[in-house]
Amino acid sequence: MQITVSAPSGLEGVVKREIYKLTGLDSTAINGRVEVSGDLKTVALFNLHLRTASRVFIKLGSFKAQTFDELFDGVSLIDFENYIDKKGKIEVYGSSIESKLTSVQACASIIKKAICKRLISKYDTELTESGERYKIEFILRRDYCIISLDTSGESLNKRGYRKELIGDAPLKENVAAALILLSVWNKSRPLADLFCGSGTIPIEGALIAKNIAPGLYRDFDFLRYKKFDLSFWEDMKKNAINSIDNETELKIYAFDIEESQIRLARKHAEKAGVLDAIHFQRADMREFSSRLKDGVIITNPPYGERLLDRKTIVSLYRDYGEVYSKLNNWSAYTLTSVTDFERLFRKKANKKRKIYNGKLECNYFSVLGEKPEKTDKKFTKKD
Ligand SMILES: C[S@@+](CC[C@H](N)C(=O)[O-])C[C@H]1O[C@@H](n2cnc3c(N)ncnc32)[C@H](O)[C@@H]1O
Repeated sequence: MQITVSAPSGLEGVVKREIYKLTGLDSTAINGRVEVSGDLKTVALFNLHLRTASRVFIKLGSFKAQTFDELFDGVSLIDFENYIDKKGKIEVYGSSIESKLTSVQACASIIKKAICKRLISKYDTELTESGERYKIEFILRRDYCIISLDTSGESLNKRGYRKELIGDAPLKENVAAALILLSVWNKSRPLADLFCGSGTIPIEGALIAKNIAPGLYRDFDFLRYKKFDLSFWEDMKKNAINSIDNETELKIYAFDIEESQIRLARKHAEKAGVLDAIHFQRADMREFSSRLKDGVIITNPPYGERLLDRKTIVSLYRDYGEVYSKLNNWSAYTLTSVTDFERLFRKKANKKRKIYNGKLECNYFSVLGEKPEKTDKKFTKKD
């Protein structure tokens, strides 16, 4: 089957790399999506393990549609009866970009009608829609329609650890995970978030370091699909649990000037099962110093748009640069929409990557320290 994985804008490449690392499969990235061939196990594996993806879809069909009739006919040809059982509750959502059919609501209604008509004729009964949810996504782009089954249900960034609690301007969990995967950090190095807010970056860091699958404690729509044989699922989850690393001692530090944010971040870390892995402290970033070498700062400071005015931002970013300059060979990764970051921080970034935080265009500035010296024993041929 054709599997499509959606990703936050700018992060398709990270998802692609994650897919390759997880399965060895090569994938193609197009228009904010990554496409790969696989089976139901691949769908389950992606939902359970991908840290930077937004949703996992099974692609059901694609066709040209410039009129409602063409849309109806194209959808009618898809074998929905192989996925949706007769009690299935069908929800259609989607988008239309540069297409003749512009009304998303009207398209969704036509698509639903076509699906129901097909299922009624295949099952030879009226549909009650009293059973499990089946989310059908459509994308109309330049009069070409793609119909997919959304196997994730809720977006994959919702790991479950900050369900009812949100901070001032929290990063999405999958974006935070991407910031970490794009950095040079590994679990043997110190990690610090000097503006941790609700704790998303350090928590995602701890989940990565402990090898805790991001989907381990949440639910997915595909688990309730009646037509799927999911006998492998419990073993897949057991394997994930057995792969958790509780041995490695981590050096993860999280600071915020607001006591309320630290309290919230601790709560989230506890829910995520990583409270013991993170040192949380209420502190002004200006007080940060460390005896440790080769650490990595990954952080998302206030931008000004939402939280502080420009004057405060200028002095905050200058002081942040000062703090960084006194550290012993650390690297600093900063996600911000402040465009003159390098000037204020007084360091040229080794790399600048465009990443969206929600709808806000940001840059991810990487300022790299020297590569740490290898401390492990060198093996000779005799060893
Ligand atoms: C954009 S938010 C961080 C959001 C965070 N990444 C999350 O996922 O929740 C910036 C945070 O910086 C904190 N902050 C502002 N000035 C600070 C300072 N001088 N030292 C430490 N934290 C500060 C704010 O309290 C706020 O929580």
